[in-house]
Amino acid sequence: MRISYLECTRCGEHLSADRPQNVCPKDGGVLFVRYDLASLKGKVRPADLSGRVASMWRYAEVLPDADPVTLGEGFTPMLPSLCGGGALPRNGAEPRHHTSRELANVFIKDEGLNPTGSFKARGMSAAVTMAKHYGLKKLAAPSAGNAGGALAAYAAAAGIEAHIFMPKDVPLANRMECDYYGARVTLVDGLISDCGRMVAERKDKEGWFDVSTLKEPFRVEGKKTMGYEVAEQLGWKLPHGIIYPTGGGVGMIGMWKAFDEMEELGWIGRERPKMITVQAAGCAPIVKAWEGGKSASEMWAGAATFAAGLRVPKAYGDYLILEILKKSQGAAVAASDDEILAATRHWASVEGVFAAPEGAASLVAYQKLRATGFFRAEDKVVLFNTGSAYKYLDMIEAQERTVRLEPPTAGNIGGIIGPY
Ligand SMILES: Cc1ncc(COP(=O)(O)O)c(C=O)c1O
Ligand SMILES: [Zn+2]
Repeated sequence: MRISYLECTRCGEHLSADRPQNVCPKDGGVLFVRYDLASLKGKVRPADLSGRVASMWRYAEVLPDADPVTLGEGFTPMLPSLCGGGALPRNGAEPRHHTSRELANVFIKDEGLNPTGSFKARGMSAAVTMAKHYGLKKLAAPSAGNAGGALAAYAAAAGIEAHIFMPKDVPLANRMECDYYGARVTLVDGLISDCGRMVAERKDKEGWFDVSTLKEPFRVEGKKTMGYEVAEQLGWKLPHGIIYPTGGGVGMIGMWKAFDEMEELGWIGRERPKMITVQAAGCAPIVKAWEGGKSASEMWAGAATFAAGLRVPKAYGDYLILEILKKSQGAAVAASDDEILAATRHWASVEGVFAAPEGAASLVAYQKLRATGFFRAEDKVVLFNTGSAYKYLDMIEAQERTVRLEPPTAGNIGGIIGPY
């Protein structure tokens, strides 16, 4: 689909999509890509999607009209959850399977199956597609880890240089994947916010195009396809709630945009899910702002959590996230690292889903919102697992050690036997 224009989410200014853009030149607002949806209405219907490619590019009409740089991202499984409504088992207790998959009303959207093992693939597929379309040669981004890995992979596939700035204590997988994908990596003794500053300082001199979270318009376009998939995979009826592990918030912002687009296309009605932000208790700026009734967040001091993707002390699009929480009558919930670790083991042992800690935080939030009565057992709720635990083995093992002071598998493995 041809893009009509880019629109500032703060002042409504229109900008051309004929050349690369970052943020609104007037007020730094996040730019949204706008299409002529009115002329599409009635011409493309949900039924037209059947038989299309099983990737996010199946929604071609609402994505940029450019040759995709794709590794097969998107159209991930929507797994009915076996343990949706149950309580987390206490230490050592047998997990309970108490619902059949047919009756499930809780779903795990498993984004861990994306290329590079996280949902960041979607945003970077779209951003790199457009970078290639514009003829850009050098991209740069700060990353909490997975965005860097995804950028590095798609840049490699497109033959574009990637310059990535990450905290020096990111998961090992993120450092190694960036290296193998051929990116130029700078490890920073600080957080993603410090990395962002470095990109901003150097980009003009180095000739880099900045693809930081929400500072270029197409990562949202890629991530919004999660919203289209939730609708399509649930039979074009949106759930009561969506729980989304929120760092920079791109997925939440993208899904909300997708719902508005689908309504304009006549694919869904006015109903919307309650949107839930879950953050780590050691870095919960959105939760704090939400609880304080604020429309923007403050920089979180001393951010610390093993859910590396949630270690974002200040989200550039915080005003958009907080607006969505309000409009959807949603909520913002914090999960401690201990709770996240227990949820990771629970999902793995009961569902067979070995989730990234960020994803497992969704289960913690769901349990808390059930306990307060915010969600009822019969409410249909989608829990986003945003990545694969296989990218976090070092982090998970280290976190296990802080809790148990013994190796994580000691309970189930009967010792190590030497060769005969
Ligand atoms: C696995 C995982 N989940 C969630 C997030 C947060 O994503 P967002 O910035 O879109 O809120 C990240 C970000 O790095 C991540 O890697
Ligand atoms: Zn503006």
